[in-house]
Amino acid sequence: MDRTPLIAGNWKMYKTVKEAVELVEALLAHIGQPSDREVLVCPPFTALYPLSPLLAESPIALGAQDVFYESQGAYTGAISPLMLQDIGCSYVIVGHSERRQYFGDDDTLVNRKLHAALAHGLHPIMCVGESKPQRDAGQATAIVTAQVRAGLAEVTVEQMRSVVIAYEPIWAIGTGDTATPDDAQTMHAAIRQTLTELFDATTANGVRIQYGGSVKPDNVDELMAQPDIDGALVGGASLKAESFLRIIQFH
Ligand code: 13P
Repeated sequence: MDRTPLIAGNWKMYKTVKEAVELVEALLAHIGQPSDREVLVCPPFTALYPLSPLLAESPIALGAQDVFYESQGAYTGAISPLMLQDIGCSYVIVGHSERRQYFGDDDTLVNRKLHAALAHGLHPIMCVGESKPQRDAGQATAIVTAQVRAGLAEVTVEQMRSVVIAYEPIWAIGTGDTATPDDAQTMHAAIRQTLTELFDATTANGVRIQYGGSVKPDNVDELMAQPDIDGALVGGASLKAESFLRIIQFH
């Protein structure tokens, strides 16, 4: 099955509104009209609303980096899926390892957030990935496939068509130490096999699985050449127009 690659920039806690607008304007000036790939930016919450009109009718989709699971209520500091949908977001990242590490997001919470996103018509990008000690102990596949199973609890075949998975080995994030294309491919294939077991082969073959962790202009081509790597979730290299544009133009 054809899977349209999804190249996404996770800006993390970077960019004021002015900087965010400048970056998006620079991307739009050079992106052209890509037809065989999808492009997404996930700025911090404060930049979503000002960027929304710039990105409407553009080839770049807008997504958030996190979401709470209720649509409204007395949840100080939280942002709801209804609010994200309201301002033109179509994607939201859930379960990023930095959320898991610094904010206590566990698989149960990630699963609730994923369901909340789906209920509001947002495409969740669910992140999974093992730590360095877990990999060294030979547990990487077990950890990652368990995260996939727990995060996708109670998801239907129909809903799964809207879900993206991002494999982000924690030791590769922000370190310049990317997974080899072979290691990434092996994990992506294990994730797809898990999706076959959870759903069915047709559904599994339709799900996009992104790789994230030190994706750069000089390694994106070999990563994207792997059969089960269907996109990239890019941190640092998405913060500059030049490097993100080169990643978008992978071949
Ligand atoms: P880096 O590309 O900076 O390693 O970050 C990856 C990431 O965490 C994207 O979500």
